[in-house]
Formats: sequence, C-alpha cells, structure tokens
Amino acid sequence: VTVYVPRDTTALALGADRVATRLERGAKARNVDINIVRNGSRGLFYLEPLVEIDTPEGRIAFGPVTPKDVDSLIEAGLFEARQDHPLSLGLTEEIDYLKRQQRLTFSRIGITDPVSIEDYTALRGFEGLKKTLALDSQAVVDEVKTSGLRGRGGAAFPTGIKWQTVHDQPPGQKYVVCNADEGDSGTFADRLVMECDPYLLIEGMTIAGLAVGADQGYIYLRSEYPLAHAILDEAIERAVNAGYLGDNIQGSGRAFHLEVRLGAGAYICGEETSLLESLEGKRGLVRAKPPLPAIEGLFGRPTVVNNVLSLAAVPFIMDQGGQTYADYGLGRSRGTLAIQLAGNVKRGGLVELAFGTSLRELMEGFGGGTLSGRALKAVQVGGPLGAYLPESQWDHPVDYEGFAAFGGVVGHGGVVMFDDSVDMGDQARFAMEFCSVESCGKCTPCRIGAVRGVEVIDRIRAGESFEKNLALLTDLCDTMVDGSLCAMGGMTPFPVQSVMQHFPDDLTPRKAVTA
Ligand code: NAI
Ligand code: SF4
Repeated sequence: VTVYVPRDTTALALGADRVATRLERGAKARNVDINIVRNGSRGLFYLEPLVEIDTPEGRIAFGPVTPKDVDSLIEAGLFEARQDHPLSLGLTEEIDYLKRQQRLTFSRIGITDPVSIEDYTALRGFEGLKKTLALDSQAVVDEVKTSGLRGRGGAAFPTGIKWQTVHDQPPGQKYVVCNADEGDSGTFADRLVMECDPYLLIEGMTIAGLAVGADQGYIYLRSEYPLAHAILDEAIERAVNAGYLGDNIQGSGRAFHLEVRLGAGAYICGEETSLLESLEGKRGLVRAKPPLPAIEGLFGRPTVVNNVLSLAAVPFIMDQGGQTYADYGLGRSRGTLAIQLAGNVKRGGLVELAFGTSLRELMEGFGGGTLSGRALKAVQVGGPLGAYLPESQWDHPVDYEGFAAFGGVVGHGGVVMFDDSVDMGDQARFAMEFCSVESCGKCTPCRIGAVRGVEVIDRIRAGESFEKNLALLTDLCDTMVDGSLCAMGGMTPFPVQSVMQHFPDDLTPRKAVTA
C-alpha cells in the first residue's frame, strides 16, 4: 500500500512526522506492507496533515489527521482504502477547494516527493528547459513577453521587459537573483514552491539565465525557512548530478550555476536593492534607483531580480507557450495568481486562480468565512503595507489595475482576514510601528515619520487635540507616500489611510475600560 504523508513545514508543525511513525507502527502490527511517500503539501492547510492512499481510481484523502487519529483510521480500513471514517474526504482531486482552482504554477504541488527528479520529470518537469535550450535567447525573452507575466513579488513589472533589459546589456558577467525573502504577513506561496516543488524554481532560474546570458544564480532565502533551505540544497545537488545545472546543461555546452544564500530576518532585505547589498555581504540598506538592478545590480553587474513565483511561472510558459498562459486572466493581468488565505479564516490555504475572481469568493467561497465564526470586518491584501479593505470593496475582480483604482494592492497575493472584534485603530498603529522597526533608516520620511506616526496615533487614541492630530496624521501620510525612497516608507501610509477612510469610528479616542 502506498501512503502519502506531507513533509512541508505546515504539515510537520501539525504532527505529520508522528502521523507517519504511527502509520508505520500500525502497518507492522497488522503485517501490512506499506510504502510511505513523504510528498509536499497540496496547500489545503486546513486539512493538514492530509494523508492519501493510492487506489486504482486515484488517491483518496483523509484529513486533518492528527497522530491520535491514526489508530482509528487503520481500524476503519485505511490500508484497504475504505472510506467510512469521519476524516475521509474521498478522491483528493475531487475536493471542492482543489477542484475549483486553476493550477498552472502549482500543478505538481503535493503530488510528488519534492526532491525526486524522476517524479518531477514524470510530470513534465524540465520540458520548458529543454525547449529553451533549442531556442536563441531573444526567442525565450519574447515567449515570456507573450505570456504577459508580471512580477509576482508585488510590483507587477512585466517580467519579459525586465529580462529584455538584462539581455540587452553588453556580454560579460550577469546574474539571476531569486527573491525568496518572503516577508509579507499571511504569505507562504514561495515557501510552498521551494519545499514542495524545488526543481520548478531551479528550472525557472536556469531558463532566466539562458535567456539573459547569466551563468550564475543566487536564491536569497529568508533564514526562517530552514526546511526550504535543506530541500533546495539537496535538489540543487541532484540537479547538478543529473545534468540540469552546471557547466554543460543537458549536453548543450551552456552553463548555469545556482547557490542559496541566507538572509538574517530583516523585512527590508526583500526590497531588491537592499537584498543585493545583503548578498554582497553588506548591511541591507536600500540603494537609490536608477541605476536599475537590470543594468547595475549584484556587484555592479546586470542582474535579473525576480520573486520565486515569477520564476516558477516560467517553466509552464516555456513548455506550453506564452499564449497559453496569457489565455488566463483579465485585462493587463494575465495568467494566474497564487492567493494565500490567512488570518482569521476557517479554511486557510493556497488558491491558484486566473485573475478576475473576487475577494468575497475567495474569503467566503474558498475560505468559508472566519475561523471565529464572527462577521468579517476587514481584509488586508498584499502584506503589511497593503490597505485594509472594507466590505464595499470585496466584490471587485482581483487584478492589478482594478485594485489600484480603489487604492488596493494585490502585492504578493496574501489575504489576511479580520473579524468584527478587531480594533482597526490598533491596526493603523501597527503599520507605523512595523515601519519604525523595519525601516532601513536611509531616508527621513520613513525613518522619522514612522516613529512620529506611532506617537500621533497614540495621541489620537488618548483623545489629545483630536482634530489637530488627525490633520497631522493626514499630512504625515502624504509626506511619507511622496517623499520616501522605497516602498517600505512609501506604502506604510496605505493601511493607515484606509483605516482613516473606511473605519473612522475605530480611530477615535479609545473608550475608557472600566473594571
Ligand atoms: P518597482 O516598481 O520600483 O520595481 C519593480 C521591478 O521592476 C523592480 O525589479 C525594478 O528594478 C524593475 N524595473 C523597473 N523599471 C524597469 C525597466 N525599465 N527595466 C527593467 N526593470 C525595471 O517596485 P519595487 O520597489 O521593486 O517593489 C515594490 C513592491 O513590492 C510593492 O508593490 C509591494 O507589493 C511589494 N512587496 C512585496 C513583499 C513580499 O514579501 N513579496 C514585501 C513588501 C513589498
Ligand atoms: Fe529605508 Fe524606509 Fe527610506 Fe526605504 S523608505 S530607503 S526602508 S528609510
């Protein structure tokens, strides 16, 4: 019997290792011959640990399986794939949450053993790279342009145009840097790729290198992802041994080398120029742009800096064609978006869908509303620098331009939900406080503005000169938006302004709490 027990961080945190041990023990006691495959997660976190059994009809799922459920599952015929246990979910592929998704980038997530190259190639892995090797570099850049792919880290700059800029620089040392410093609140899609389908990122980066003429890549990984680090290191070594990385990729005579570098926990090192400083061994201080990294990046050389999800979309594009990818989406937002449902949500997890769905559908249709069961009050999309969106904005289609039109940010696709017990005044203060802690300190509006922002909000909440301080906060936000050097200071006012605009009742003097 083949049994699948996930090994990503979420499943492990929920006891997946102990589930596997108990399954082994139970099988031994019954003389059942089992083969436990430690696959990645399907991204249906509310069902983790999600145990699956192979059957001729497909895999059937059980979840969430805690270690103490294992004995009763075995008793109810788990190894015979009987489905009369309360945790039985039927065929995995038929689970509504999964079935309704459009998984292009995440098509293999949770199906395979993450580090098995055989599993990867059995599901079209490295097909995009093989096609790339048969093309000249300009044709590869053109294919990515055709796909309409835009930077999935948050800024949504067209990936093909960024690659073109690096491609067009004179020959010489160039680099591909993957931004894997996934720091936004509620986000985990980069981690899922790296822990559950690492060859996808390796393939995407290699294609990028071949397209722009770079033979060296670095994955700048946040140190808070130790499992992703171990899996990436193992996958890179195996890819080198199998000839998918190194001096002579698949006998083509073309080279690409890849290494992982660890960050040290600074949010600002997810900003591309401070990331490059950090990679060079310096303090993560933001650089002024221009020059763009595409022209003068790592060690002063032309550098592609792309988020994990942008690079992970590329193998599909090269395998199936840019137009196939572009056939999904809405307006200028082509392809799919990896939405991460988090915060106060009943069914948290990864939802990959074409652009154009609504927040309400995501939060209610997929997420099932709040975990607390209370009414939803606000949602923050796009990380700690994204606006808080009130119910009147939940029916807009999710796409870059549509969101920008009402001051929203799609960002990296993190959706953090809040129920009606949240104090939005506290959330506004938190935005300023977060910035005051994470600011790199290079420019005044951010370094000093964030500290003053916390103080002004405290005075407002204390009822001190209410009108005057509210006007001061408005001015301060405008100054930070207009005067900050990078998005850290430039976007911190977004959540604050959204609270002032949509939840003004929460930004009033705090009511005295009586015992
Ligand atoms: P940006 O708009 O300055 O740049 C976007 C990208 O396009 C950069 O890589 C830039 O170098 C490149 N670029 C611009 N013009 C170019 C040209 N002509 N040729 C080649 N490349 C060009 O935005 P930035 O500051 O890089 O990112 C801000 C975004 O980051 C925000 O919108 C936010 O959503 C997102 N963000 C994401 C986080 C995460 O954890 N993923 C955390 C915080 C913010
Ligand atoms: Fe540094 Fe903040 Fe200025 Fe960005 S806005 S350069 S994080 S001080």
